[in-house]
Amino acid sequence: MAKIKTAFFCQNCGTQFAKWQGQCTSCKEWNTIVEELINTGHASASISLGTSSPKLPKPQRIKEISTEDDKRLLLPDNELNRVLGGGLVSGSVVLLGGEPGIGKSTLLLQTCLELSEVSLYISGEESIKQIKMRADRIHTADNNCYVLAETQLENIFEQIVLVQPGLIIIDSIQTLQTEYLEATAGSVSQIKECTSRLIKVAKESGIPVILVGHITKDGSLAGPKILEHMVDTVLQFEGDRNHLFRILRSLKNRFGATSEIGIYEMEGSGLKAVENPSEILISKHQEALSGIAIASVMEGLRPLLIEIQALVSTAVYGTPQRSSTGFNARRLNMLLAVLEKRAGFKLAAKDVFLNITGGMTVNDPATDLAVLAAILSSDFDLDINKKYCFAAEVGLAGEVRPVTRVEQRIQEAEKLGFTDIFISKQCRLSDVKYRIKIHPHNKIQEVFQVVFK
Ligand code: TYD
Ligand code: MG
Repeated sequence: MAKIKTAFFCQNCGTQFAKWQGQCTSCKEWNTIVEELINTGHASASISLGTSSPKLPKPQRIKEISTEDDKRLLLPDNELNRVLGGGLVSGSVVLLGGEPGIGKSTLLLQTCLELSEVSLYISGEESIKQIKMRADRIHTADNNCYVLAETQLENIFEQIVLVQPGLIIIDSIQTLQTEYLEATAGSVSQIKECTSRLIKVAKESGIPVILVGHITKDGSLAGPKILEHMVDTVLQFEGDRNHLFRILRSLKNRFGATSEIGIYEMEGSGLKAVENPSEILISKHQEALSGIAIASVMEGLRPLLIEIQALVSTAVYGTPQRSSTGFNARRLNMLLAVLEKRAGFKLAAKDVFLNITGGMTVNDPATDLAVLAAILSSDFDLDINKKYCFAAEVGLAGEVRPVTRVEQRIQEAEKLGFTDIFISKQCRLSDVKYRIKIHPHNKIQEVFQVVFK
């Protein structure tokens, strides 16, 4: 088969080269040159699934465009539907990224197995026997799922036409290869070309496609950033492999909000959605322990109660250690400085360790007050009432600042049986009467007087 014409382009400045070289002679950047197709108008390389005709598109008035046939495929997994903004839009292309072993293949295979429509699961990483073994673990006897172990894009297209599935899974985009490019699978040009042709097929046929994407060491999706621009939706599956939870988050969604998250737990028989995550995130220890505080945080649009653990001990060396897991270390240092300056606590000679339980990472500033409470609790060795929780940001002046969606946080805390919640006095609350006691405060000192009285 004749190869398509390719050339090498610098991804930084766009200069074209005849062959690959390590450094761009134009902009002097290293490792920016990749092979790209320069003739994409090849007839044989694009496949038509019999729906498109080469009509030129005309501008249309927005109110005249009908969206009725843009049906959403409702997946059997409600968490996944929610993260996608209410099901999978027909013809959309979703990229699912995540670290190895986090459960991407499991999640997608499970979706295929439970779906009543015909689905085609294409794996470039596992043999069909391996997939079958995984499917056996997940159960579901009756299904409509076809599997194919293939990496050649052209063969995959042929099978799509034969099977006519309602959903296509590609596991993973980094293993795909088109015969029109000499570059090896996983190279930037292969990933780009395969993705753009899959997108074309999805748009023409209306079949939704989910692509699995590998993640590089630094946590970004492997392959060019442009991949994320090309697809309609980017989902990220995260959470530490050793921890209980896996969180599915949407980073980009052309068909819905990006604030929703789905929470899963890996069990012996696949991934199970976690309906009430707060209950598991808070440990159920009987005895009172110091150094623990509960924060009501928002993960996307979902309120969650999480447990914050702090350990304060006398520093052995001159410079005290500050270490945090799941919480920004700079913010911890800032909060410690506030504590020292505004509340007169001498922490300079103390090591401070902070941990968010359940392997969670929180960015919500509403965690601040709980972090300070946990640190002081450990420092005083005084436990905080197990039924207390916190939802406020702390400012540099030691002021307790309001946070967004405070009523939702209060409701969640109340639902989970907390008796008291500490918030900022600046929060504007509606007239709703809560069973939970609300403590509005202006200064952190006032909060601690109540908590550690
Ligand atoms: P996998 O889905 O292959 O992850 P990825 O495709 O993201 O690399 O891996 C899932 C991990 O979960 C694997 O290490 C085995 C484990 N697992 C279970 O604990 N229970 C199960 O039912 C399955 C299928 C996998
Ligand atoms: Mg996999």
